[in-house]
Amino acid sequence: MYSDKVMDHFQHPRNVGVIENADGVGTVGNPVCGDVMKMYLKIDNDVIVDIKFKTFGCASAIATSSMATEMIKGKTVDEALELTNKAVAEALDGLPPVKMHCSILAEEAVKSAIEDYKNKQK
Ligand code: FES
Repeated sequence: MYSDKVMDHFQHPRNVGVIENADGVGTVGNPVCGDVMKMYLKIDNDVIVDIKFKTFGCASAIATSSMATEMIKGKTVDEALELTNKAVAEALDGLPPVKMHCSILAEEAVKSAIEDYKNKQK
């Protein structure tokens, strides 16, 4: 059912944890299943220098969060905002169609954490 890349990121998720004094924190819930994800960003000069996440979710949610963090680390916040759940799923060699909703959690957590960062800048 899952690609090798999904299994790898599920079993060895990258960037799991918490960042103390993060510059942006986003918490989102998936209305379909009730799973929750929290994302922490450390940002320097609009560049994401560190990123961590915690997910109370399924294998797909964990794998997509892990891949999403890898994809936006080192990017500017504006570049990171362009990340789509579809791009994350493609980077994982696809997700089963019934699990696509899980990948939305990662995209929304990134956006929510960046929004928090931007609000703090004001
Ligand atoms: Fe909830 Fe996948 S089943 S995020």
